[in-house]
Amino acid sequence: MRLKKGVKKIIIISTIVILFLGLGIYSYVKISQKIAYEKTYEYKLTTIGYSLDDAKEMATKYQDKELEYILKQDQNTVFNNIIKEEYFIYDKFYNYLDYYNQNKDENLTSIVEKVNAGVDKEYYTETVETDLSKGNLILVNKYYYLPDNYVPENLVSISLDYAYGEYGSQKMTEEAYDAFLNLWNASHNAGYYLMVNSSYRTHTEQKETYDEYANSSGSKYADTIAARPGHSEHQTGLTIDVFEKGTGQKDFADSDSYKWLKENAHKYGFIERYPSDKVDITGYAYESWHYRYVGIEAATYIYEHHITFDEYYAYFVK
Ligand code: DAL
Ligand code: ZN
Repeated sequence: MRLKKGVKKIIIISTIVILFLGLGIYSYVKISQKIAYEKTYEYKLTTIGYSLDDAKEMATKYQDKELEYILKQDQNTVFNNIIKEEYFIYDKFYNYLDYYNQNKDENLTSIVEKVNAGVDKEYYTETVETDLSKGNLILVNKYYYLPDNYVPENLVSISLDYAYGEYGSQKMTEEAYDAFLNLWNASHNAGYYLMVNSSYRTHTEQKETYDEYANSSGSKYADTIAARPGHSEHQTGLTIDVFEKGTGQKDFADSDSYKWLKENAHKYGFIERYPSDKVDITGYAYESWHYRYVGIEAATYIYEHHITFDEYYAYFVK
C-alpha cells in the first residue's frame, strides 16, 4: 500500500515535470520562431503599413539594399503610395523613384504610366529588339524595334473594296485581315464605309516615309508623326490607317464614322493606338486613323481601362 502511494507520487511529480518541461520547450521554440520572424523583411514591412501579401511579394522580389531603403521610408512617402498604383511593377522600383525625383509635381498615376511605357527615357535610347514570339502582341514603339529584314508571315492583300491603291499594294496578316473584315462589316451595317489608306510597310518604305517628313520639316517634327525605320507598327502587318471613304484623313477625327470606330473597334480586336489624350505616353501626335490589331482580349482590356498598348505590354505581356 505504501509502495503504491510512493509510485503514485512519483508518477504525479514526473507528469508535472514533463508537462512543465514540454511547456517550456514549446514556449522556447515559439518565442525563438517569433524572434526569428520579427527579423525578416516580411514582418518588418508589415510594421510600416504594408499588407502581408505585399510584404511577402516585396521580400521575395527585392534585394536587401532595396528593402532597407523601403524600411527607412515612412508610410506617407511617395514610394509607399506608388506601390498602391494599379499598374505598379515591382521590377521598375528604381525607375519610378528616379522619375519622381526629377518630376516631383507630377501625380503618381502619371509617373507609373510613363515609366511603364518607357518614356522616362529619351526617345530612341536604350532601344531593344522586340520579342517576336509575342505574335499579335508584338510591341513596336520608340524603344522596341523590328529587325530590318522582318516580314510578317501570312501577309494577304486587302481587297480594293476596302483599300486605296493598286491591288497587292495593301497588305495585312491573314488573322488581322479576317478581323478587319468583321470590323468593316459591322461598321458598314452601322452606316459607314471605311477605307484603308496604309497598311503593311516594309522597313525601306518606312524609311522613305520618315525621311520625307524629316527632309521637309526636320527630324524633331518627323518624330511626332512618323516612326523611324524598324520602329513602325506598320512593319508588323497588324496595323492600318483607315478613314471614311470620300473624306480626308484630317477630317476623320470629327466624323461619326470615327466615333463609331473608337467605340467599337475593340470588339474585333483593334485599338486606337495614338489617342488624343495619350500623346505623352505614346510619343506620337494624335492619329485618329491608326488602328492596331492586338486580338479581342487585349483590345477589350485596353479600351475598357483606357490605357495604351505600351502600358498593357509592360504590365501583362512582357
Ligand atoms: N505614323 C506612325 C507612328 C508610324 O509611322 O508608324
Ligand atoms: Zn499609321
